[in-house]
Amino acid sequence: MLLRFRLGYVDLAVEKTAIKPTIYEHPEFTTFITGMNMHFAAWRDASAARLKALKVDCHPKQVQRLSDAEVIANVIITLIGGHETTMNLIASGFLTLLRNPESYEQLRSRPEIIASAVEELLRFESPVQHTARIAPADMRLGGKLIKKGSRVVVVLAAADRDPNRFPNPDCIDLTRTDNRHLAFGWAAHFCFGAPLARMEGQVAFNALLNRLGSPELTGEPLQWRENAGLRGLTALRITFKPGVPKN
Ligand code: HEM
Repeated sequence: MLLRFRLGYVDLAVEKTAIKPTIYEHPEFTTFITGMNMHFAAWRDASAARLKALKVDCHPKQVQRLSDAEVIANVIITLIGGHETTMNLIASGFLTLLRNPESYEQLRSRPEIIASAVEELLRFESPVQHTARIAPADMRLGGKLIKKGSRVVVVLAAADRDPNRFPNPDCIDLTRTDNRHLAFGWAAHFCFGAPLARMEGQVAFNALLNRLGSPELTGEPLQWRENAGLRGLTALRITFKPGVPKN
């Protein structure tokens, strides 16, 4: 099912903008939703049968606290949020390291800085470029009036390069200390998978730096997805030599 979803999502990801909800008209997406509906219906029947076999008496409201639509909505955000973003963190982050050989070498020789390095790579090439909200009340921000009910696009990636917040924002510093970036959003909807994504990034960068000898970009032009919301490469082509790099 993940593979089928991935195929559908590739098409979503190449949409010019993530704001327009054209995904709902996409045939792959409707097939995915139909499949999910069938899966959850079968799963619910099986769970009810198991509970009955155990002689556990549940009120129907306790058995199904979320509607199918709510469960599917959560599955979609977790699949997209958990898969595409982390993949982009790893590819864009590795590209950043290849383009900054001193930082690459710094991280390779001092693996203990991996936690702050991942935060810096998240700040520098934020996989989620923007989010959106509806203003709950009239408010002033940056000298502008935002009217109640207006749709507001918040460009997290721009905030992550804000020179009023970060010294030398366009340079990477893998040991940056005051690095409260917005790559995982903020407040009530702060990324639910941030600890997992951080861990995945740490494992992936450590493994790449330890296992690839002298990796280099092939020189082919880089192709970025044409997506305003999720920043990522369609591929990262590199060459490397066999053998573990020497310290
Ligand atoms: C580098 C990887 C990731 C990045 C950059 C990222 C980024 C974000 C951002 C910016 C938001 C907030 C959206 C908003 O406020 O509108 C968010 C929310 C969310 N993320 Fe992630 N994410 C990543 C990985 C993950 C993973 C691994 C999972 C799950 C396994 C995940 C699941 C979610 C979910 C469920 C939400 C919605 C939380 C809510 O609305 O309360 N994300 N993510």
